[in-house]
Amino acid sequence: MTDKRSALVTGVTGQDGAYLVELLLGKGYAVHGIARDVAAFDHGRLGNARSDAGEFRLYNCDITDEAGLRELVAAIRPDEVYNLAAQSHVPTSLAEPHRTIEINATAAVSLLKMIVDLGLQGRTRFFQASSSEVFGEASGSVLTETSPMRPRNPYAESKYQAYLASTRLRTETGLFVTNGFLFNHESPFRSPAFVTRKISLAAASHARGERAPLRLGNLDVRRDWGHARDYVAGMWLSLQRREPGDYIFSTGENHSVREFVELAFATAGRKIRWQGEGLHEAGYDADTAERLVEIDPSFFRPNEISATLGDASKARHELQWRPRTDFAELVREMVVSDLDRTR
Ligand code: GDD
Repeated sequence: MTDKRSALVTGVTGQDGAYLVELLLGKGYAVHGIARDVAAFDHGRLGNARSDAGEFRLYNCDITDEAGLRELVAAIRPDEVYNLAAQSHVPTSLAEPHRTIEINATAAVSLLKMIVDLGLQGRTRFFQASSSEVFGEASGSVLTETSPMRPRNPYAESKYQAYLASTRLRTETGLFVTNGFLFNHESPFRSPAFVTRKISLAAASHARGERAPLRLGNLDVRRDWGHARDYVAGMWLSLQRREPGDYIFSTGENHSVREFVELAFATAGRKIRWQGEGLHEAGYDADTAERLVEIDPSFFRPNEISATLGDASKARHELQWRPRTDFAELVREMVVSDLDRTR
């Protein structure tokens, strides 16, 4: 590749990778993306990642393959690293805590240390994708960068460990590393393992004649949901500062799963009427009485976080960052995209 500014993006084949690559290519970067099992990956997601300005190269490398990763980092000598690789599903982390820690914490720490060991700390700036999950249950209070961190599941523990190591290395070695405490961020590229995409896909398939009800867990949890495109812009901005810092990226409003369902189905032309209580509650089509949504206790979580709500004032003031897509636009974009796909 040429002498453009270079970026290494781990976990590039995920939702955030797709938007980040598009952003970096638009800015003329040489982007080196790594992911495991590249051969099996559906490249459609990176379909937008084309630009006359930038260059993109995809490598097959598992983030836990320390030797392979070191070789790549040494060869690329990236100006910026975005560590997006993660096992990011909370319930999977309960079933596979060891693997979650290995990918999200151990590999992140190795990558950080590798940059220092290769003598790149004066050159390479590092973005660590952290999570609102590190704060644990805050009972709906507004979270800032200084809020207490009380992880409640292995996923949150792993992100917390990586956060601790990154801030330690920042003071110990002078490495430019920023943590983004990313609140839930969604898009049409979201995996159906997450509730928003599960709902948008179901709303679209019901519009196409699906009869099986959508089965969900707790309808009353609230999340501060934003659009992934906005959050990757924050990642980039955080690395352009004179000094490194840690930033909350959130919208500052939260909504319940129930509200997401209502809006998604309304976008697909179905008005929901709720009936019953607890496990027996269900959502019916207000006009036809068809059962559209029901409760499945297997999706309930131990140590559930009842609500998240973030205050992104620091990012707004220091990075001039603000989310551009509101909740209603996000839901509509996801459902319309799924309606188009299933047409
Ligand atoms: N996945 C899922 N499936 N969640 C459900 C369901 C269901 O059927 N029913 C209710 N929920 C609730 C979950 O219990 C949770 O409270 C909420 O919906 C959101 O769940 P997810 O979409 O799975 O996301 P998450 O909040 O656990 O985590 C996401 O956001 C974090 C913060 O940005 C992930 O992207 C994490 O990796 C990320 O750190």
